[in-house]
Amino acid sequence: MNTEHVTALVTGANRGLGRRFAEQLVARGAKVYAAARRPETIDLDGVVPIQLDITDPESVRRASELASDVTVVVNNAGVSTRADLLEGSIDDIRLEMETHYFGTLNVVRAFAPIVERNGGGAILNVLSVLSWLHPATSGAYSAAKAAAWALTDAVREELAPRGVHVAALHVGYMDTDMVKDVPAGQKTDPGVVAEQALEGLFAGAPEILADELTRGVKSQLSSTPW
Ligand SMILES: NC(=O)c1ccc[n+]([C@@H]2O[C@H](COP(=O)([O-])OP(=O)(O)OC[C@H]3O[C@@H](n4cnc5c(N)ncnc54)[C@H](OP(=O)(O)O)[C@@H]3O)[C@@H](O)[C@H]2O)c1
Repeated sequence: MNTEHVTALVTGANRGLGRRFAEQLVARGAKVYAAARRPETIDLDGVVPIQLDITDPESVRRASELASDVTVVVNNAGVSTRADLLEGSIDDIRLEMETHYFGTLNVVRAFAPIVERNGGGAILNVLSVLSWLHPATSGAYSAAKAAAWALTDAVREELAPRGVHVAALHVGYMDTDMVKDVPAGQKTDPGVVAEQALEGLFAGAPEILADELTRGVKSQLSSTPW
């Protein structure tokens, strides 16, 4: 894809990895809708701020009406409640699934027909190494990212004949608010991850594995459980 002719929508673009995606897409010459629950928190130059709560169907519908020229969607928005599955709050467990699975699905269902109508393009879903590695301490998050992984594979097959490429980004800790308590030495730079992900997306890769941990875990999937 020629990125100069891309019109992209990035969810959760006000901070963290999403902000880096929006920034780098602008630098590549794309028109960028920077979507956020509170668009007034978008502080990037050169983007079109747009209101979008991915868990709210009415908000998704409004965004899809406004951003009707989109050819690339980056499903980046996410939450981490750290809820475990046996004792964690059921509201937190539902929030993880509502955000990572149903929220991503809401956006895919609303925007895939738009991308198709605009001549084809791509959707990137931001997943995690925890789509495959399921520690008890992040049970809710891991289950939701695993569900989003299955979603990504299934819609990739559905959308390929319609000219829409679907890719997944899997990554371990990045230096964002989501994991602010994790020591710095264990986190990658979200700017580097965004760059790697966009390179892979525009080269047509189905999966971008952004770090050593993620590549190691993926390569072990067929061996014995951890
Ligand atoms: N950081 C990591 O170590 C790590 C590792 C692997 C994968 N990831 C994934 O990377 C993605 C970006 O996370 P991050 O690290 O940049 O986290 P972050 O700094 O906490 O940012 C999360 C973003 O998602 C937005 N968001 C949350 N719920 C939303 C909703 N219902 N509708 C719209 N936007 C919503 C937040 O908006 P508000 O400002 O309104 O809250 C914020 O912009 C997520 O999918 C996350 O699961 C992160």
